[in-house]
Amino acid sequence: MSGWKLREMPDLGGRTAVVTGGNTGLGHRSALELARKGARVFLTSRSGARGRAAAAAIASDVPGTSVEGIELDLTDPASIERFAERVASRADRLDILLNNAGVVSLAFLQRTPAGHEMHMATNHFGHFLVTGHLLPLLLATAGARVCTVTSGGYRYGTLDFDDLDWRKRPYHPVKAYGASKLANLLFTRELQRRFDSAGASALALSAHPGLTRTERQQSSGMGGMLSRLLASSVDVGVAPQLRAVTDPAAGKMGFYGPRFGIYGSARRTSPVSGPATSDALAQLLWRFTEETTGFRYPPPVDSSTFGASAG
Ligand SMILES: NC(=O)c1ccc[n+]([C@@H]2O[C@H](COP(=O)([O-])OP(=O)(O)OC[C@H]3O[C@@H](n4cnc5c(N)ncnc54)[C@H](OP(=O)(O)O)[C@@H]3O)[C@@H](O)[C@H]2O)c1
Repeated sequence: MSGWKLREMPDLGGRTAVVTGGNTGLGHRSALELARKGARVFLTSRSGARGRAAAAAIASDVPGTSVEGIELDLTDPASIERFAERVASRADRLDILLNNAGVVSLAFLQRTPAGHEMHMATNHFGHFLVTGHLLPLLLATAGARVCTVTSGGYRYGTLDFDDLDWRKRPYHPVKAYGASKLANLLFTRELQRRFDSAGASALALSAHPGLTRTERQQSSGMGGMLSRLLASSVDVGVAPQLRAVTDPAAGKMGFYGPRFGIYGSARRTSPVSGPATSDALAQLLWRFTEETTGFRYPPPVDSSTFGASAG
């Protein structure tokens, strides 16, 4: 049975999209396909030069497109603020926010300058801040979508709020990555609840690409070899996140992934493990994240007050 294809993406003329980590891998392909369908695209990279080069590559593939590379380091709150200000100074709407950037199963424990473990800081705290700073634009846009890219690895994650920075336990790359990807799903859950309480039409969604052969996700050894054999091409792996942000039939908290878990056509699926479906855990994580980052989203009352503010 044939599944959803990239060519089914609707026309996106007049829409604006932000793709984090748009200089390479799934983010770059997402930015390209969104631009091909007519969206104005802001893509990010930690390096201004890499971001500009990626934007130029898309512009040469899709003549006449509006695509801009902007520097963003998800581990640096000041960089996130500058990035959001730049987008807000350029656009008066934001239809699609694709929280795609991420670090994956880092072999050794790494910390940000603020001392936070790198997966949680980059993949969750960073996107929590990006979304918060861009919230006024999202709420100003009817039917805006925020899709946060997670991984089937969320199943290996638990949230130990007492030691999210791995100071008390021996570091474990897969579990640290999994925790950040579980956080991505819980973030989506609470964000949708807040959109709903605010009476906003925005959708919070998530997607995972299965196992995809992006340039950097090819670890060494037996695991790496198996990954290379089993992994899908970027064409296939990118489909769930593009379906999430463009399928007119997508609904609240839609979770998209490959049909057969690690490969297959993009379809709507649902988290299977307990913690990812817990409202209480989602709210606890939200409060913890606000405290850790010092950034507070206002209480969800109505869409005029559900804007961003620094706490
Ligand atoms: N590929 C897979 O098999 C797979 C499986 C499951 C889930 N995923 C998820 O899919 C997403 C994309 O993965 P990918 O395979 O395309 O990865 P990738 O090729 O390694 O690209 C990662 C992107 O994230 C950016 N990034 C890393 N650290 C950053 C930071 N501190 N601040 C801002 N940007 C940062 C990188 O930008 P720089 O150029 O600045 O480093 C790069 O653009 C990730 O969220 C990943 O967890 C991938």
